[in-house]
Amino acid sequence: MDYDITVIGGGPGGYVAAIKAAQLGKKVCIVEENSFGGTCLNEGCIPTKTLIKTANVLHDIKTADKFAIEGIDVKNIKVSMEKLQKRRQAVISQLVSGVQGLLRGNKVTVVKGKASFIDKNTVIVNDKKITSEYFIIATGSNTFMPPFIAQEGKTNIITSKEALEMDIIPKSIAVIGGGVIGVEFAYLLSKLGSKVYVLELMDKILPMVDEEVSNMAKKRLAKDGVEFHTGAKVKKVSDNKVFYEVDGHEEYVEADVVLMSVGRTPNTEGLNAEGIGIEFNKKAVKTDNSLRTNIPNIYAIGDVNGKVMLAHTAEHEGVVAVENICGKTAEISYDKIPSCIYLDPEIACIGLTEEEAKKKFNNIRIGKFPMMANGKSLVEGDQDGIVKVIIDGELNEILGVHLYGKHTTDMISEISLAMTMEATAEEIIDTIHPHPTISESVPEAFMAAVG
Ligand code: FAD
Ligand code: NAI
Repeated sequence: MDYDITVIGGGPGGYVAAIKAAQLGKKVCIVEENSFGGTCLNEGCIPTKTLIKTANVLHDIKTADKFAIEGIDVKNIKVSMEKLQKRRQAVISQLVSGVQGLLRGNKVTVVKGKASFIDKNTVIVNDKKITSEYFIIATGSNTFMPPFIAQEGKTNIITSKEALEMDIIPKSIAVIGGGVIGVEFAYLLSKLGSKVYVLELMDKILPMVDEEVSNMAKKRLAKDGVEFHTGAKVKKVSDNKVFYEVDGHEEYVEADVVLMSVGRTPNTEGLNAEGIGIEFNKKAVKTDNSLRTNIPNIYAIGDVNGKVMLAHTAEHEGVVAVENICGKTAEISYDKIPSCIYLDPEIACIGLTEEEAKKKFNNIRIGKFPMMANGKSLVEGDQDGIVKVIIDGELNEILGVHLYGKHTTDMISEISLAMTMEATAEEIIDTIHPHPTISESVPEAFMAAVG
């Protein structure tokens, strides 16, 4: 064999797996057909947050008078999209070259091109065969144009990929799908001056988030001018009109641009995974919790296995897959993966929502602490938000935590650690949190839960 392990795809799943394998002494190859860093660095996590940072700075400047800053001519402040796009590209380039440096530094062989399986130990890339004892499929996901939404006439439909490259802010935009991508772009574009309409099939936005938190975020976005239509099943885009069904009748919104954000699809195009007998679960490569496919020497990590489409999940799955290949027995706990949504205030959650916990457990206790009562939130000038914790009624074990407030995406890791260590509410309460911080509200909510 040419290599011990060959990783296909250089996104956060793939590059982390390749580096980990090399550090464990394996002879490793990574094949990437496009740019290292994958969706996350090039057209996902990093560029969205770069644009959102500018939207937040703009908001801070516009509201500077509340912090006693005078002399800013807020009416004439605007964002230079040309400069913002240059900043986005600079941030991406720096991180992509960092990944390339790490691969080089760890002596991972890099092959540029598209890999396609010939058999369970061989792929072909640019007409050259690569043989390997193990393969890790980390080919990620793609944008998705749903066949169930018809397109007619001269439409202007974009996906998150094109939305990130915009050099003009549209006057109006209709966002189809009020999930994570839809809501982050709704926030971004409304802050940059677009009139935003969000059309969401379910009766709440961010259906995966605890209802109390998603309602708070919706209220805040609506206050900033975002128009929501929930329970709205989009059926057709015709020219610049988006038609949807609500309560049995048809309605439409009209907008210059339409953003399609109804999910992403696992990417196995051209990989010939089916051809060598790899099993699928719909469009995703099927794996167990050790990331093994049905073919024992082939693993699949990240978005391509369709479990949890998040960068930190892909990274962690990469480590778990490599550890299993190297003879350890490792698994991933999918019930302890934090999820963050970058609005202002931010959403950060982990574990069960209240609704899910009620279905699963007979005896739960809920504790809440409003950011309104937190000193640092007042200092920060934004008191919207809540800490909501759900614990098991007998053992006081943590079942779910939902944060909405400033800096909460940096606070959730405390809960991830606590849940990994199976900590109880009392152990969080006994942990001294610094003052003044927003994190002080976490033990407060746990105190409320235990009474
Ligand atoms: P990818 O990052 O998709 O990488 C796969 C790589 O494989 C690509 O580079 C591709 O070119 C390569 N490839 C594919 N097929 C082949 C082949 N046959 N041969 C060789 N190479 C191949 N997640 C978060 O956790 N936080 C966020 O804030 C966040 N924001 C997001 C915002 C947007 C707009 C989007 C679209 C996604 C966001 N995500 C976020 C999700 C995150 O980007 C993905 O979960 C993550 O990138 C998945 O990593 P991956 O390694 O599985 O795949
Ligand atoms: P999503 O699954 O989060 O949301 C899609 C939404 O579209 C759902 O709410 C669904 O009910 C709605 N929908 C489906 N069909 C519809 C129809 N016909 N009419 C109206 N609404 C309809 O998918 P999204 O937002 O595209 O994101 C894809 C993935 O990217 C997510 O699963 C997430 O893991 C990842 N991501 C993560 C981010 C983060 O962690 N901050 C940011 C952006 C993306």
